[in-house]
Amino acid sequence: MSLVTSLNALLGIRAPIVVGPMTAVTDAKLVIAAAEAGIVAGIPPHNYRTLDGFKGALRDIRQGTRGPFAVNLIVNKANVLLRGQLDAALEAETPIYITSLGDPREVIRRAHDAGAKVVCDVSTVAHGLKVRDAGADALNAVVAGAGGHAGHISPFALVPALVDRVGLPVICAGGVADGRGLAAAIALGACGVQMGTRFIASRECSVPDGYKRAIVDATADDLVLTERLSGVMGSYLRTPDLDRLGTALPLPIQLLMRGKRTRGPTQKVMMVLASRRMSAVRREERALWSAGQSADLVHEIATVREIVEHTLAEYERACAAGAGVGRGATSPA
Ligand SMILES: Cc1cc2nc3c(=O)[nH]c(=O)nc-3n(C[C@H](O)[C@H](O)[C@H](O)COP(=O)(O)O)c2cc1C
Repeated sequence: MSLVTSLNALLGIRAPIVVGPMTAVTDAKLVIAAAEAGIVAGIPPHNYRTLDGFKGALRDIRQGTRGPFAVNLIVNKANVLLRGQLDAALEAETPIYITSLGDPREVIRRAHDAGAKVVCDVSTVAHGLKVRDAGADALNAVVAGAGGHAGHISPFALVPALVDRVGLPVICAGGVADGRGLAAAIALGACGVQMGTRFIASRECSVPDGYKRAIVDATADDLVLTERLSGVMGSYLRTPDLDRLGTALPLPIQLLMRGKRTRGPTQKVMMVLASRRMSAVRREERALWSAGQSADLVHEIATVREIVEHTLAEYERACAAGAGVGRGATSPA
């Protein structure tokens, strides 16, 4: 089964689904599984302790699949490793970049020089206009309820607003875990979806089983929004480890984050601490697990290919059901 939108040709994929890059989650195995299933996944270099580790992952991906892959770059000032990460990605002839949290201009310029495409995360129309002017090829609409660093605007408002006012292909990033969500995103004008949480509960995902099971068992009520882990608001599963850490930033850090001069350096330190905590998560020492509200829709652990096929089949059913509702609504009472 396939579904074709403008995203297929843009990213070289069979179905317009992106496995969102995920801190402490995504590795080469998941990226290869996505490419082999006809979609694409993004890999964050910050999941590797060293640049050489990241380069090794890119080599593994190249050896494991001929399909596309994306590299996720955090483009704010807190990412002091950005230049090296970009150089490594360019060296590996990365075909797609996904930028988050800042000014993507340098990445766009150098990626375009290399013939690659750039998708930029945005959570407002103003940010969408900025990255469009910088040359982005498509937008990830980071919406309220998403896993990772969630947005604050409902997909029902943000996706069509970006479509109308920015005029670039828009991918709905957040809240989608099945074909009904995909159909809804397409109806809003999106050209595809970026899904994270659903793919954590995939067989090829290398996280501890407890994390996968926690997603399968979770309802949206089990999620907590907090900036405690990275200094940026993110969505996490409530676990005893999260409760122990607490959800409020310590007062001195709150004050430093408010100051114009101190915000940047504090953010850098927070990012370093976050990356240490995430290493502990990978070593299975701490259950600090990010997920989005779509966890409520995840009921089983499946392979990436099964998730894609199921999503596409359900998309067809949702469209057919929607067409039926449409006919019903226009028939005389
Ligand atoms: C555990 C986790 C880690 C994430 N880390 C990143 C990241 O490092 N970079 C990024 O651009 N997005 C990150 N995200 C966001 C995802 O790429 C994706 O946009 C999001 O998960 C979509 O929402 P969903 O979880 O409701 O499907 C993360 C999401 C999760 C769940």
